[in-house]
Amino acid sequence: MNPPLVCALPGNAALAGGLAGALGAELGGLEVRQFPDGETYLRYHTALAGRAVVLACTLDRPDDKVLALLYAAATARDLGAARVGLVCPYLAYLRQDRRFRDGEAVTSVHFAKLLSGALDFLVTVDPHLHRHASLDAVYTIPTRVVPAAPLIAHWLTREVPDALLIGPDAESAQWVSRIAAQAGVPYRVLEKQRLGDRSVRVSVPDLRGLEDRTPVLVDDIVSTGATLIAALAQLRDLGARPPQCVAVHALFAGTAHADLLAAGAARVVTTNTVPHPSNALDVHAALAGAVAGLLAP
Ligand code: R5P
Repeated sequence: MNPPLVCALPGNAALAGGLAGALGAELGGLEVRQFPDGETYLRYHTALAGRAVVLACTLDRPDDKVLALLYAAATARDLGAARVGLVCPYLAYLRQDRRFRDGEAVTSVHFAKLLSGALDFLVTVDPHLHRHASLDAVYTIPTRVVPAAPLIAHWLTREVPDALLIGPDAESAQWVSRIAAQAGVPYRVLEKQRLGDRSVRVSVPDLRGLEDRTPVLVDDIVSTGATLIAALAQLRDLGARPPQCVAVHALFAGTAHADLLAAGAARVVTTNTVPHPSNALDVHAALAGAVAGLLAP
């Protein structure tokens, strides 16, 4: 039987290469470009008939990427692919998981419907699940979630053995508690109040008895950086040691990364679910393991 074919959407060559290497898969040729009027042209340069096709496409800034992804999935089916799956290390559109104000779109549900209709399976890293209990609550295709916790815990043990983990909000408790247990370090979770897209307030961390430890702020997503910057300010006011920041998904809108460093982060470390100079933790092998499990007969 032919090995699976991994095809990179634009900007995802490193992800596709990492997956293909770890899976023993073949890299497929996929050409995507814009016509002069901005419409998308797409062509496969590898025969797909009867093959399992794995599309590699992380979904930060998703609105620029989703149409090409949907065309790639539909075309793979048209060309006879046996199965068409997606590896998207960062899965977008999970934070709007309810109608907070009248008239709002619950985009997590609509986006899940769109992808579930186009694909046979999906693999991602630490999706931002808050009010949805699991991806199965919204996705109707088989999904696999790769946790970043083991990688982060391993990194902490090596780089910051005296860490005190701090999660900036209730959602982060799920990740912080798991990482703390695996790294064998204490943790605290703060309370967050979001006042606007770029404005948040977080509670004062209780550092009693832990003043000698190095605070490490851990969150799944850094977007504007407002959440971590508010937590950094609290730690500075308490006279804590210079804090480090670890995030799974490096979205870093605008100047967020520089803003974090300017706000006193001694170091900012992320996984490579979204390519960024702060990437220090590689999720590709773990993603390939999850794909192999899904493709196993
Ligand atoms: C929200 O619940 C997430 O876990 C992150 O805390 C949030 O997305 C970070 O966004 P920002 O960097 O814009 O504060």
